Amino acid sequence: MTPVLRRGHQLQLNEIPYGPPASVQEALTRALASANRYPEFLPQRLPRLIAERFGIEPDRIVVGAGATGVIMHIVQEFGSGGAHVVMATPTFDGYPILTAMAGGRPIAVPLTGDGRQDLAGIARAVTATTRLVVLCSPHNPTGTLIAPVEFVEFMSRLSADVTVLLDEAYVDFVADHERIEVLSLMERFSNLIVLRTFSKAYGLAALRVGYAIGSPATIKRIARRQLPFGMNALAEVAVRACYEAEPEIAARVAEIGDHRGQLTEGLRELGLTVPDSYANFSYLTLPGPDIDRVGMALAGADIHVKHYPTGLRITVGDRDATDAVLATVRSTVQ
Ligand SMILES: Cc1ncc(COP(=O)(O)O)c(C=O)c1O
Repeated sequence: MTPVLRRGHQLQLNEIPYGPPASVQEALTRALASANRYPEFLPQRLPRLIAERFGIEPDRIVVGAGATGVIMHIVQEFGSGGAHVVMATPTFDGYPILTAMAGGRPIAVPLTGDGRQDLAGIARAVTATTRLVVLCSPHNPTGTLIAPVEFVEFMSRLSADVTVLLDEAYVDFVADHERIEVLSLMERFSNLIVLRTFSKAYGLAALRVGYAIGSPATIKRIARRQLPFGMNALAEVAVRACYEAEPEIAARVAEIGDHRGQLTEGLRELGLTVPDSYANFSYLTLPGPDIDRVGMALAGADIHVKHYPTGLRITVGDRDATDAVLATVRSTVQ
């Protein structure tokens, strides 16, 4: 693959800074020899592979072209025809965009002052026209986590005919003991769908592999939206190879955790407000004009981050990237 030429520090899309492990690259290279062949008409093997990993039946998994592809099918199924889709704001840009594309209406509930999703506010925003609620844990852009107990309380308050999409795109960066036990919760809440991706910790963003876990009935509804031959044949090869390279993936996740600590602490030492992040990015907040000044200084130093009205989301990169961010922010705020 010819890489797209991107200069400077690319810290705006929450990609990891490493290419796939050598064993994954080798498996992909071998698979390219069969690129003349179509993938499966509708993917069966990849859901089976993922389901085996969780010890569940394959009819509980649906895959798509990235988590984005799965979200598209979910909002088409649950959020079309003017249905309300309740979500936090800011959130992953895909949610308001894809909801509008599907003919639904995004209902945006502001974050709390400390960068958390306002679960009480989100519950209050649910009306008879609401078909879908989206929560992210860790949240994008702030990196904050929903505590398991908070989540169960939220689900218990909600009517069972409203579907809840829990987006866990960054869950691989979260320690096991801090995760929501989604599989057992699904036995209690059949209206729960969980979304995951191989774009983040597994570093396969270019290959577009995401999936949802849910009840067989819900998964069936989502899967009937799938495009025939729509799933890249390399996706299955890459996922299989990544599962076999799990220790290497785990070491990278640990390294990113260390860099995230350095970035977060470094920004806090400069007097900036940065919530505890459980993902591969940090979010710093400042009043509007100040955030623009810092954002412009970073752009001037060829450091590309994601800009919000009162915040900057900075992907955790390698050591050089962290040093460059801290040096530039320091020269701007001091
Ligand atoms: C919260 C969240 N969900 C979903 C996605 C989509 O990921 P992908 O389509 O690459 O799997 C992203 C990407 O940044 C994200 O931040």
